[in-house]
Amino acid sequence: LRKNKVQVFAPTREQAKIEWSKAYAMRIAEKYEIPGAPAFDVIESVKELEKLGAFSRKFGTSFVVKADGLMGGKGVFVGGDHFHNLKDARKITRQLLERGPVVLQEKLEGVEFSGHYIAGGGVFFTCPYSQDHKRAFEGDKGPNTGGMGSYSDESHSLPFLSQKDLSQARKIAEAVFEAVKKETGSGYTGVLYPAFMKTSAGIKWLELNCRFGDPEVVNILPILNDDFAEVAYAAATRKLKRISELEFRGVATVVRYGAPKGYPEKPSSGDLIKINEKEIKKVGRVYYGDARLEKEEAGVKTIKTMESRTFAIFAEGKNLVVAKQKAGNAFKSHVEGEYHSRGDIPDFNRIKRLKRHFGIK
Ligand code: AMP
Ligand code: GLY
Repeated sequence: LRKNKVQVFAPTREQAKIEWSKAYAMRIAEKYEIPGAPAFDVIESVKELEKLGAFSRKFGTSFVVKADGLMGGKGVFVGGDHFHNLKDARKITRQLLERGPVVLQEKLEGVEFSGHYIAGGGVFFTCPYSQDHKRAFEGDKGPNTGGMGSYSDESHSLPFLSQKDLSQARKIAEAVFEAVKKETGSGYTGVLYPAFMKTSAGIKWLELNCRFGDPEVVNILPILNDDFAEVAYAAATRKLKRISELEFRGVATVVRYGAPKGYPEKPSSGDLIKINEKEIKKVGRVYYGDARLEKEEAGVKTIKTMESRTFAIFAEGKNLVVAKQKAGNAFKSHVEGEYHSRGDIPDFNRIKRLKRHFGIK
């Protein structure tokens, strides 16, 4: 595209390596001293397997084994969760090495959240912070999924984050932009989405993505007051400076996915779901995923489930209680059929525990 003089709202392939090679991301973090990075090592081949022993002497089983490249969320093995001793970690590492390098990371303990930043022409803007819910079932149980839903509060933050946390997160993003510019010789254009972890030692990060998160993007774009096409074009043409700041409406947002029953392990595809779009549009929005349209009548769509997440409902409110309730009502009153969704997004008891744990008022 760029060769053909098309303006692109995305990093170059070389810059996008921060997402498609975890080893590259960690090495850049080390070289440019990006704050909040976990301790790491890279195993290039079985000859270097002894690095695993050294890592384990330092961290016990409190470490994570990751495939270097993109594995659709299936290349990450967490100590204490997916393996419980060095022998099993070695087995996993050997298997992953058949497909490429392996990254070892210190296991970070805390609560995960997502940051999104839009950059171009030497400036960058912060989007609302949000939290994905990756586990299939309520109470964060069950297997990992593509993401069952996410939320963001009316101050564009999360209730368990302090101002200091937000400024630490932003500093990490700034350091990533600077590092990428130094390393690749050109400024970053597009979206940076670090997966952050709030730990007892401050804000850390686990990985860097160069795109919007799914479902988190649905917490962000519907409440953007500016025209997103204009923002993207300004960033692509390095004129983002002309916009003084992105403007987001001051509302809390909740996104919940509906997925086939049995998702992700044994998705029941071919089930019919009736979605009363006309009614839902009065309180929120519907987005479709892996769905086939069967019928549409008077604002009611009948869709068929496939293998992956079928549809998402977005709702907003003056606070999280209202937004959660609206999303819940939309599912209860305006969606009929066989599907699976999580009703605990967000879980206010969990939020209360986290606030107490981190001493947030
Ligand atoms: P990733 O694909 O790197 O985002 O990893 C998938 C999931 O594994 C993350 O959402 C975390 O829950 C977990 N994870 C990855 N890296 C770490 C780490 N260094 N410490 C703790 N958990 C991690
Ligand atoms: N929210 C998870 C992802 O988009 O990778």
